Amino acid sequence: MVQTDIGKDIAKARALLEHRLLVAIPTETVYGLAANALDEDAVLQIFEVKNRPRFDPLIVHGADRERLSEYVTSFPEWAQTLADRFWPGPLTLVLPKREIIPDIVTSGMDTVAVRVPLSPLTHELLTQLDFPLAAPSANPFGFVSPTTAQHVQDQLGGKIPYILDGGECEVGLESTIVAEENGKLHVLRLGGIAVEEIESIIGPVKIGGASEGHSPGSLLQHYATRTPLKLGPIDITQHDLSSTGILSYQTRYPGIPPEHQVVLSTSGDLRKASKYLFAAMRYLDSLNLKVILAEEFPETGLGRAINDRLRRAAA
Ligand code: TXA
Ligand code: MG
Repeated sequence: MVQTDIGKDIAKARALLEHRLLVAIPTETVYGLAANALDEDAVLQIFEVKNRPRFDPLIVHGADRERLSEYVTSFPEWAQTLADRFWPGPLTLVLPKREIIPDIVTSGMDTVAVRVPLSPLTHELLTQLDFPLAAPSANPFGFVSPTTAQHVQDQLGGKIPYILDGGECEVGLESTIVAEENGKLHVLRLGGIAVEEIESIIGPVKIGGASEGHSPGSLLQHYATRTPLKLGPIDITQHDLSSTGILSYQTRYPGIPPEHQVVLSTSGDLRKASKYLFAAMRYLDSLNLKVILAEEFPETGLGRAINDRLRRAAA
């Protein structure tokens, strides 16, 4: 056991990372569990702390596109166009990797996933470091991703020395991952940037990839709560109301105790719903109920990514 401190001390985070230790970092999507991406031994600790299988590759984070360009052999035009529009922001690009990125980061693949996160603290940290940061979401493998420093403390406290506290994550869903496969553009993971927004810039993309199934971002069961979660139209007559939780978009359900219900956005704002989705799943899970009933969201914009997470949680 180590003591896990929470704070805003960039110098401390930097010193720990330079000493090959792990630090949880804020991003606009979810908190990441970071290590020097160029240091195989440091990265190995990420897999150990998360209990993550080695076949699941990590995202490499950099302060800007110029720095990340040092780790890829080419930055094709489609990727430049997307980077110009969405970086810093919740977009990850899968590009051909340079040798300097260790195999442990990419699970032996010849591509590397890169992104420039939007968070003032993490941006400053990345600017000061002379290496990029490999960082998966800072949760034990398979569980709900953290969107506050306290969430990280709850799940990884005692296992890492420091959590850099950037407050609540503004987006609340992991980044959208785009890759070129067999000459076509694919969204490998739905996320914080809607597919419609990406298509408005680079034209039609395919959802899912040829490589689907290799990586747990795309494994069916993921983002799991301990309480069983059921997704679909909610029929409360089928359940014992005192032990049922509700995760809904806009509607309150009479008959269910109000403290067992989370309405993500009464006004129907998908951004707001995304921001608090994971926190709501955690909260309802903490009540130790028999079941959590979740509504399906509109299959448009960020609603698609929300449904994706809920489907995996329900699987
Ligand atoms: O928003 C995010 O992306 C957050 C924050 C911390 O940046 N990170 C995150 O990392 O969600 P993680 O490890 O939970 O998910 C990374 C996923 C992998 O599961 C895999 O699906 C995909 O990124 N990935 C990574 N490298 C890849 C590669 N070379 N080819 C295809 N997919 C890759
Ligand atoms: Mg994750």
